[in-house]
Formats: sequence, C-alpha cells, structure tokens
Amino acid sequence: MEKTYLMVKPDGVQRNLIGEIVARFEKKGFHLVGAKLMSIPKELAEEHYGEHKERPFFGELVDFITSGPVFAMVWQGENVIATARQMMGSTNPKDAAPGTIRGDFGITVGKNVIHGSDSPASAEREIGLFFKQDELVEYSKLV
Ligand code: CMP
Repeated sequence: MEKTYLMVKPDGVQRNLIGEIVARFEKKGFHLVGAKLMSIPKELAEEHYGEHKERPFFGELVDFITSGPVFAMVWQGENVIATARQMMGSTNPKDAAPGTIRGDFGITVGKNVIHGSDSPASAEREIGLFFKQDELVEYSKLV
C-alpha cells in the first residue's frame, strides 16, 4: 500500500491546525501509520529541502521549518501521494482552491501550513529521513 510523508509546518502547529488537518485525511479514508511532534535539527532541514539548495529562498525555508515544532506524519492508502497533494492545494496559497488545506488556511508561500511528498521517490526518501522503521505501525486488518 502506498505511503506518503506529510508535515504540519510550524505555522500550522502554532495556529492549532493539527487536529483539523489530521481530520481531513482521516475522513478521506487514509490511515495514519506514524506521527510525532518534533523540532527539526538544522542539518535534517537542509537535507530534507536539499533539492532547493540553490534557490534564493533556501535559507529562509530552513530557518522557518526549524523555527518551531512540526507535526510529522506518515499516511497510507491507495494513491495517497497524489491525493494528499490535491487535498493540500497549490504550493502558493494564493493559487490554492478553496476547500484545500492551503486554500482554506494559508496566505503566503513560505508559511503554507503543510508539506507533502510530491512523488513515490520523495515519499520513500522523506519517510526514511523522519521515521525509523519501528516508529511505523502496520494494520493487519483494514476495515
Ligand atoms: P514545501 O511543499 O514544503 O516545499 C518547498 C517549500 O518552499 C514550499 O513548500 C514553500 O513553502 C517554499 N517556497 C517555495 N517558493 C518560495 C518562495 N518564493 N519563498 C519562500 N518559500 C518558498
């Protein structure tokens, strides 16, 4: 079953949006297989966002994601990677449709509430960066 890495960013955590965001993925029918509230060390942030290293906003990105606790999650389900991205909405909240997480709760591209893996390769990489295998649960019988 497909898995993805999702993370409520420091703005979402401080605005008390964890419950709202978790509820959306639960109600959709996906299953939570890992979760933790954590502060991201700078080195991990730089590795996670490594593909943006040359971008002018890289420093800002790392500073923001390490500025406060994040809520790191692994979700499981059919097509969860692409569907979660749809539920999150466009990266820039000004372009995100109403009804999506960023469309409903975000205003600026830097503080856009949530991160989600954009492909199977990045999901595998990001889950491995944030979770040990024994931090993930398995459901033997899914209802
Ligand atoms: P995320 O999905 O976490 O992946 C990379 C992040 O870079 C993205 O969400 C945005 O929050 C951030 N980002 C993209 N463009 C800009 C920008 N121009 N300025 C600041 N942050 C940006």
